[in-house]
Amino acid sequence: MYSQIVSIIKKVLGKGSHSLHEPYFCGNEWKYVKKTLDDNYVSSIGSFVNQFEDQIKKFIKAKYVIPVVNGTEALHLSLVACGVNSKDEVLVPTITFAGTANAIVYSGATPHFVDSEFETLGIDPLKLEKYLEKITTKKGKFYFNKKTKRRIKAIMPVHIFGNICKIDKILKIAKKYNLIVIEDAAEALGSFFKNKHAGTFGLVGCFSFNGNKILTTGGGGAIITNNKLLAKKIKHLSTTAKIDHRWEYIHDSVGYNFRMPNLNAALGSAQIENLKKFLRSKRRLFLKYRKEFSKVNDLKLIDNPQFSKSNNWLNTIFIKNSSIKKRNKLLSLAQKNKIFLRPVWKPLHQLKHFKYIPKMNLENAERIYISCINLPSSAHYFFKKN
Ligand SMILES: Cc1ncc(COP(=O)(O)O)c(C=O)c1O
Repeated sequence: MYSQIVSIIKKVLGKGSHSLHEPYFCGNEWKYVKKTLDDNYVSSIGSFVNQFEDQIKKFIKAKYVIPVVNGTEALHLSLVACGVNSKDEVLVPTITFAGTANAIVYSGATPHFVDSEFETLGIDPLKLEKYLEKITTKKGKFYFNKKTKRRIKAIMPVHIFGNICKIDKILKIAKKYNLIVIEDAAEALGSFFKNKHAGTFGLVGCFSFNGNKILTTGGGGAIITNNKLLAKKIKHLSTTAKIDHRWEYIHDSVGYNFRMPNLNAALGSAQIENLKKFLRSKRRLFLKYRKEFSKVNDLKLIDNPQFSKSNNWLNTIFIKNSSIKKRNKLLSLAQKNKIFLRPVWKPLHQLKHFKYIPKMNLENAERIYISCINLPSSAHYFFKKN
């Protein structure tokens, strides 16, 4: 089966070497970045930050957008702005990039690992609901972990590889348990559920524009919300909590220096002009993979569940009856063929420094870890200029 997988990838992508996800600069990137240099505005002030903010707002249909330095700090700042602190626990899938859980630790709160399901690779809502029923106790309006006595204050659903998680069911659970929803949509720019963009379901949504994402600002991220007061607070905190004044430097609290620089925003501004084309090219690649992999037994390409539309950021195959040994054999064979395949992140609860973290039974996540492989998924393969 492994040589068949490698042959399919070669058939779909052609000869040569193939990395997992490369940025693609085919528009106004040079022009806009040059302008920041010509204008001498490369840092936290400059017109591209506002321009990029407006472009994101328009695409996502969010009321407020705050561009920041990266996706991890977008999550961190969102947690802080929502009042999450050291007395709290935040529910987070164990299958996600480390940055999601790190952001919780930065806020002072404790992550609480929950399991994933196989269709979307996101949080398993059925398992979560049963679990919360068992481990929480209600005091007033809020729910507390019976064992640690901390409040379970927030949940961070992650749209893994651009696939929308079971967000409707998660929102219902969040409502029942009075949880703040902070969506980690770092990988999901261009993904929708019932025509609503990822990141707009919770109180706050966070994006990453790292070099490996569907569009990049080099390093960068954004926070979106429809809550005016919260947006104001986030923007204020992201700009060192400095009070507006023509010359004085007065800060009204401990703020953060998280504002996206103009240089990065210029790159993003050019990239987002091609976002729809990137999405179309990635869809073409997904359809080609789907056609070819449908012929292989004991293997499934992760697909869009009903009502959801993925940005197809990273195409993923699930191999039945896999094991670490078998998976590594495939990774090694692909590497010999100059094809970079990537396993899913090691579940966070298995990392040494997260051993102390409260968790539920995480057997699905452990299976996902040994069974899922990301395929080369760059936007340039089937990009059409028009
Ligand atoms: C799911 C997820 N969350 C958070 C992040 C953090 O984003 P960044 O790398 O921009 O800090 C990433 C991206 O790398 C991610 O994939």
